[in-house]
This record gives sequence, structure tokens and C-alpha cells, in this order.
Amino acid sequence: MAVEKRDIDWGSLGFAYRPTDYSYVCNYKDGAWEEGGLTTDHTLTLSECAGIFHYCQEVFEGLKAYTTEDGRIVCFRPDLNASRMADSARRIVMPPFPEDKFIEAVKMVVKANEAWVPPFGSGATLYVRPFMVATGNVIGVAPADEYQFRILVTPVGPYYKGGVKPVALQVPEYDRAAPHGTGAIKAGLNYAMSLYPSVLAHEGGFADNMFLDPQTHTYVEESGGANFLFVDKEGTLVVPQSATNSILPSITRRSLVQVAQDMLGMTVVERPVKFAEVEAGDFVECGMCGTAAVISPVGKVVNGDEEIVFASGMEEVGPVMKKLRETLTGIQSGEIAGPEGWVVEIA
Ligand code: PLP
Ligand code: COI
Repeated sequence: MAVEKRDIDWGSLGFAYRPTDYSYVCNYKDGAWEEGGLTTDHTLTLSECAGIFHYCQEVFEGLKAYTTEDGRIVCFRPDLNASRMADSARRIVMPPFPEDKFIEAVKMVVKANEAWVPPFGSGATLYVRPFMVATGNVIGVAPADEYQFRILVTPVGPYYKGGVKPVALQVPEYDRAAPHGTGAIKAGLNYAMSLYPSVLAHEGGFADNMFLDPQTHTYVEESGGANFLFVDKEGTLVVPQSATNSILPSITRRSLVQVAQDMLGMTVVERPVKFAEVEAGDFVECGMCGTAAVISPVGKVVNGDEEIVFASGMEEVGPVMKKLRETLTGIQSGEIAGPEGWVVEIA
């Protein structure tokens, strides 16, 4: 029988944390992961010398659980979050959390919090945030020997205010990642790098930054929390690639490439994209895509004194981004049949 949902005004939720009933926790000690399980304790108590506090060993993930029209609870491609988190962990010398255990843990914690999964059509979803921190003591620069993996879940609304209303971005004077550094993994340290330019962007009235490549500052990379998609005048979907391995491999972006090609019959080109092409007006639409962002249309980009407005403008989402968004959210909520295995049933 379906669990009764919490009495929340789902439609007015923003992207903010609110504790739910359960989190998942699993510790790594003596070279092995323990069994792990649910907890109602949403706090961590750690040694002052824990590795996370000194050398920032932390990686995380983000995925969502959805209620389908017929009342099932599903999530989207958790296997890709599991493998990306393992890649992130290896890059900063943390023990990867077993991928099958990751998927089981996501299912367990979402099911336990079923009452918090927003209803179908409410515009909200349950955001699932797996993360892992170094809990073991370290004082000399070295990886720790003990870790904690946790999953918190929290109901959320749109990441960018206004949802599908186009936003303005700026090109910042700071980078979010180093060339061939850690930009391609989901580690908290990258987000620490992006906080100052992010605050400056918000102070300037921009929703986010359009970061350029950290080596030459001539290619488009990504925003603080999403990958970019462009549509050129021929209707081709143009997807930026990084020459310096500093773009996070977005699961949403990889899925949309497949949706555009195989389901919508679009031409898709994945290649380095020069910012000069944006300046030249070569693209008619631009969007940011990610788990939190879904697809958020970009109406304009400001670079110093220069203002570049996409043909789709600041009022309405362009037709291609609209179609991609509808198809993706339709697949995620079970209304549209997507490729085999993308939508994983939880309850
Ligand atoms: N890029 C950055 C920097 C992000 O934080 C995210 C969010 O996860 C993305 C891209 C989008 O990735 P995904 O589609 O896997 O959520
Ligand atoms: C996500 O989309 O899951 C993210 O982690 C992005 C973050 C900026 C909220």
C-alpha cells in the first residue's frame, strides 16, 4: 500500500535542505566497508584531525527519485552515479564504495523516506545526495585510512529560480578547476573553488557562471553546477568537450545526447566549443543541464562589457531545449518510454 505523503506545499519548494526521516551510513575501517544501514541521526561527530578537515578528501553525487503517474517511485540511472562516484574516489585516493552496494543503499534510503518523495506532477522531486568523507586522522599530507559513506535525501524544487524561465550568466575572471586537475570528478574541493565566482555572479544578478577552459580561456566548459548544451542555426545540438579534462561528465548531458540522437532524430556534435562562436551569434539556444538544473535555458551571457543574447531570448525557453526537457522529464517520471534500464524502480 502506498505510504501517505508528508503534508508539504510541494510546489513552493526551492532547492534547500530539509531533514527527512532516514539517512544511510556505512563506515570504512581496516581496509573494508562495513555492512551499513539506515540511521535517524542526521549529524556526524568526527575527530578534529579527520582527513576531511585538513586535506579535503570528500566526493559526492546527486540523483533524484520521482513518483510516476501510477504511484511508483523510481530513480534515474543510479548505476552511472555509482560508477562516477567510484571514479571520483579513486582520483583523490579514497576507497571506492562498491557500485552494487551504492544502488542498494539508494533504494533502501529512498524507500524508507517514501513519504518524502514528492507526488507526481508537483514539480518537486526527492534529491538524493550520496557523499563520502575521510574520517580517519591525518596530520601529514596523506590519504586517511578511515572513511564514512552517507546518503541524505531531501525534497527539492527548481535549482534555478523560475524553473524554465531563461537565466543570465556571466563569464567570470576565475576558474573552477585546473587544467588536468580534478574538474572532471565530483569532489567538494571543486565547488569550494567555484564559491567566490559564484557569489560574485549572484551579486551581479546572474544565475551562475559560464566557466571557460582554465588553460586558454577561449573554450566554453561548464557552469558551477551543470554542463552546457548549444543549438546552432541548423538545429544541431552542439555539446562542449574539454581539452583539459576539466568538465564533469554529466549524466543528464550523456542521456540527452542519446535522447536527441536516437529518440528525436537530431544531429549531435560533441566538440570543443570556442567562446568566440558564442560571441559571433552562431548559437540560437543555450541551456544548462544537470540533475539539479534539469535543463535550464540560458537567455544571455555577459562577458565584461559585452552582452550576448541568444536568439531564443530572455522570455521563453527555446523550442529545442523545451523538447529536450519535456522528453527527459517524461522519461524520468515514467510517462515516456526511454532506453532499457534508465528508470530503476524503488517501490
Ligand atoms: N557539472 C557540475 C559542475 C555539476 O555539479 C553537475 C551536477 O551534478 C553537473 C555538471 C551535472 O551532472 P549530472 O547531470 O550528472 O547531475
Ligand atoms: C546536482 O545536479 O546533483 C549537483 O550536484 C549540482 C549542485 C550544484 C547542486
